[in-house]
Amino acid sequence: MCETAFLQCIQPACRATFALNAPIYECSKCRALLDVAYDWNRLTPPSTLQAFEKRWATRSNPIDFSGVWRFRDLLPFAKDADLVTIGEGQTILQTPDTAAMSLPLRPGNLHLQYEGMNPSGSFKDNGMTAAFTMARMLGKQRVGCASTGNTSASLAMYASLTRLPNGQPMRGVVFVGAGKIAFGKLSQALDYGALTLQIDGDFDACMARVREAADRIGLYLMNSVNPFRLEGQKTIMYRILEGLRWQVPDWIVVPGGNLGNTSAFGKAWIELKQLGLVSRIPRLAVINAAGANTLYELYTRRGVRWNNGNWDCDTVCNHYDEMTKQGRKASTIATAIEIARPVNLSKALRALDAMNGVVCEVTDDEILEEKALVGRHGFGCEPASAASVAGLRQLLANGTIDRDARVVCILTGHALKDPDATVKYHTGIDTKGVTVSPGASNPTGRHANLPIRVADNIDEICRAIESSS
Ligand code: F0G
Repeated sequence: MCETAFLQCIQPACRATFALNAPIYECSKCRALLDVAYDWNRLTPPSTLQAFEKRWATRSNPIDFSGVWRFRDLLPFAKDADLVTIGEGQTILQTPDTAAMSLPLRPGNLHLQYEGMNPSGSFKDNGMTAAFTMARMLGKQRVGCASTGNTSASLAMYASLTRLPNGQPMRGVVFVGAGKIAFGKLSQALDYGALTLQIDGDFDACMARVREAADRIGLYLMNSVNPFRLEGQKTIMYRILEGLRWQVPDWIVVPGGNLGNTSAFGKAWIELKQLGLVSRIPRLAVINAAGANTLYELYTRRGVRWNNGNWDCDTVCNHYDEMTKQGRKASTIATAIEIARPVNLSKALRALDAMNGVVCEVTDDEILEEKALVGRHGFGCEPASAASVAGLRQLLANGTIDRDARVVCILTGHALKDPDATVKYHTGIDTKGVTVSPGASNPTGRHANLPIRVADNIDEICRAIESSS
């Protein structure tokens, strides 16, 4: 284990430290979440961000090719020889100018960080590569997570590809809500051979059960309460900087579910500033689905703030009690973020504080419209990802974000994760593999692209093409 890295309680009043290999996910003194922390005085972080460019020339080395590990000097908890990688993080910062104008944002100022390009099709691979590195160092044979789909897909993929140092395989165990996850994601967990437990409950129930299983049978927990996951996810920010030739954007806009990304992004910028690698920190906008709006409710409506670790627990508990009493569960078309009790709430409050953040909520219809807009411009994403663009439209309309600002929206997952949502938007029909007859449906979306049923006849086919152009 690296002696220059350790676990540390995030509570400023506690700050207890633990060995890097302590099998814990929260502070054993005060129960707060833990960070992976570094003794930077004994390490040699890069003196400039440009220094990372030297790794572009050594891409034949898998850890220099990885979009996570080429920044390993900023997450130095493992030796090079211990790193697990399958080439994650080959993402591209896109600049879709026509989409920018429709928001409206000045051309050149809208960037989409397209995390759907990852090997399992979502940003989760950034975190899994780091968590698997630690699991392998600890010799953990069984790793598990609760998931709305993407975490389970990523865990299942890494589990099938990773062997322990002694050559033994690793076993992935995933807890998903029965009927709660998109088929693209379920198919991945099954195909990669993970033990897939379909629990009669939602994500919040799965999360509670997997934590119990972790305590009871030592299942190593790979959800974002595992602080190593967040170390990997910090690199999304480094790749954005790389894509902008190391210039800091004005805003980062991200969908919020379990708030792992939000937390990781905050930590990334706090560290970059502390290390003198950036001169300023961008602002953060976290976007909840209206049907899963815990952070919006607490932060925007009820004014809960990080407050140097003294955040208002009573208001949070009251909100959770109200939800329980009313039997209120999260519910949104964006199933990836259908979460009512985000485990990283406290770290997210810290990130919002450091990044002068805002939180808003968007409806399912707004999400679907922006998902179609993203698709129309050639960058497919799943519904949860499009919450970022829907949030940006709202924040431009109410003047929070200026149209001259340089904005990066995180597209967290690939469109093929949830094709049912896409087909339903374009056809108005809920069934799979449907053939649409003229007049059979009436989709109302602004970008709806209804398929046309045509006889197997070349004259009719040509007529259909010519009458549509
Ligand atoms: N977007 C997508 C596509 C996701 O899969 C998730 C989370 C989020 C956004 C929210 O990210 O939790 O960091 O705030 N999916 C988790 C899962 C919960 O189980 O796949 P977050």
